[in-house]
Amino acid sequence: MTGLAKDAAKRILDKVDGPARVGMVLGSGLGALADEVENAQRFPYQSLPGFPVSSVSSHASELVVGSLMGVQVAILAGRAHYYEHGDATVMKQPLATLKALGCDQVLLTNAAGSLREDIAPGELMLIDDHINWSGRSPLIGVESDDRFVGLTEAYDASIRADLAKAAEAADVALKSGVYAWFSGPNFETPAEIRAARILGADAVGMSTVPEVILARWMGLRVAAISTITNFGAGMTGNELSHEETKEMGPVGAQKLIGVIRAYLKAMAD
Ligand code: HPA
Repeated sequence: MTGLAKDAAKRILDKVDGPARVGMVLGSGLGALADEVENAQRFPYQSLPGFPVSSVSSHASELVVGSLMGVQVAILAGRAHYYEHGDATVMKQPLATLKALGCDQVLLTNAAGSLREDIAPGELMLIDDHINWSGRSPLIGVESDDRFVGLTEAYDASIRADLAKAAEAADVALKSGVYAWFSGPNFETPAEIRAARILGADAVGMSTVPEVILARWMGLRVAAISTITNFGAGMTGNELSHEETKEMGPVGAQKLIGVIRAYLKAMAD
């Protein structure tokens, strides 16, 4: 673990009620979850060493630490993306800080386009595997053998089972599938979407995969859920837009917040 993350964690732990158990990264439209944290201490990314500042209009940028449903959590409200600077390691310090705060697991969330007719905008998809279409790895340049991270079980089976139970308890439909990472920031072409479907992807998005790789490298257990904001390019007659992502994000976000609350409640019981 990096010294920077340890320094940040020490400063944070001085101000909060205790170590965190669950880390989260919130994508588009999910900021509302961070507002529900009790006894919250908020740390703007600018105040934390090695933290990026996101330039995406729908993303706040603060680390929120406190209690949610009786579980101590550390929430990265706002992420930086590969497409902002071409740096796949951009979330390395924030994730290392979650680990230094005591988290042994991270729940990653994102907005994504669906490639499946049976997963509509406004629904959720639990990610059970991914395709790294970008060809980039955040571990390029790491100089020890721990860079050869196995990703056979990147998405923790036991957390996925618990999230499925939580979705049932929250009465939210939770389908699962494969997420393909396209670098963005442009949306995909219809031909790329057709190709991704043939290759076995169920959703596409511009984030999360580098975070999964980094988190697994750090030994964190990982789960990830997409809020579906649109169908992939060419699947309907409409052009895609960031406005649509921002507009539809909150619909799935409300459901996702319900699932996460139920997940944490079961953990606290
Ligand atoms: N493609 C890539 N990223 C996305 C999409 C999409 O269709 N929707 C939301 N994020």
